[in-house]
Amino acid sequence: MNARPDIPAAYFDQWYANMAGTAPNDAITQRHLGLPPSLLSTSLLTWDGIAEVVTALRLPTGGTLLDVACGRGGYRLEIAARTGARLIGVDYSAEAIRQATENARAQSAPAQFRVGDLAATGLPDGSVDGVVCVDAIQFATDPVAAYAELRRVLAPGGRVVLTCWEAADRTDPRLPDRLRTVDTRAGLLGAGFDDVVVVDRPAWRSAERSMWEEAAALDPGDDPALQSFHDEGVQMLGRFDLVRRVMATGTAP
Ligand SMILES: C[S@@+](CC[C@H](N)C(=O)[O-])C[C@H]1O[C@@H](n2cnc3c(N)ncnc32)[C@H](O)[C@@H]1O
Repeated sequence: MNARPDIPAAYFDQWYANMAGTAPNDAITQRHLGLPPSLLSTSLLTWDGIAEVVTALRLPTGGTLLDVACGRGGYRLEIAARTGARLIGVDYSAEAIRQATENARAQSAPAQFRVGDLAATGLPDGSVDGVVCVDAIQFATDPVAAYAELRRVLAPGGRVVLTCWEAADRTDPRLPDRLRTVDTRAGLLGAGFDDVVVVDRPAWRSAERSMWEEAAALDPGDDPALQSFHDEGVQMLGRFDLVRRVMATGTAP
């Protein structure tokens, strides 16, 4: 796995600024993924998927959960509420962290958010009991360093859960490098994780398809968040069958 072209944090700062508050596409996303209105997603994990992630994390009561590339923090506030875990969220977009902090405060949720990188979270060795990374590991500029960081911060026995997409065929030139090079099994094994399991999640994928179909069919008008949602829908449907939806898990030795 070689280093990939970098997407600067400024790109995501603008992305989050465009959808500050409640963006019009939030309601569409929530309807297709089965999420409640309070859960502001910037990824594609379904409500049923949250339950699978919680089960796979096996968090101890009162444990600490790190959410890497947390975005606005929506899913992990839900996971923390279900498990009673103390939540730390890290993202390299300062705007995402600002919105995540605001959302946690509005929900009176005990959570701490800070700016950091997938490969440099700034947390001490062995300091968390679980790590979750939802739909973001494909953005790591240096995947080997990112997987090593997930392992470094986990206490022995701690669990990592990643959700993302992998190429059905890694040699397919129709896919961007960022997707072709994602290999969660190799990444987790290479970082020294035990019990590595990668499973396909077709039910999550079919919720995505219906969401992108609605996004591609809508008229975005002059709303930048809707325009970006619409454009992403068109792009995603164009390569829909070229990728698999996966959940990858491992245990820190
Ligand atoms: C598709 S969004 C997912 C956000 C969040 N995990 C969620 O489920 O709502 C991808 C996130 O990855 C973050 N990201 C991308 N590259 C990163 C990096 N190198 N370090 C930290 N965060 C990064 C972006 O800022 C963005 O918040």
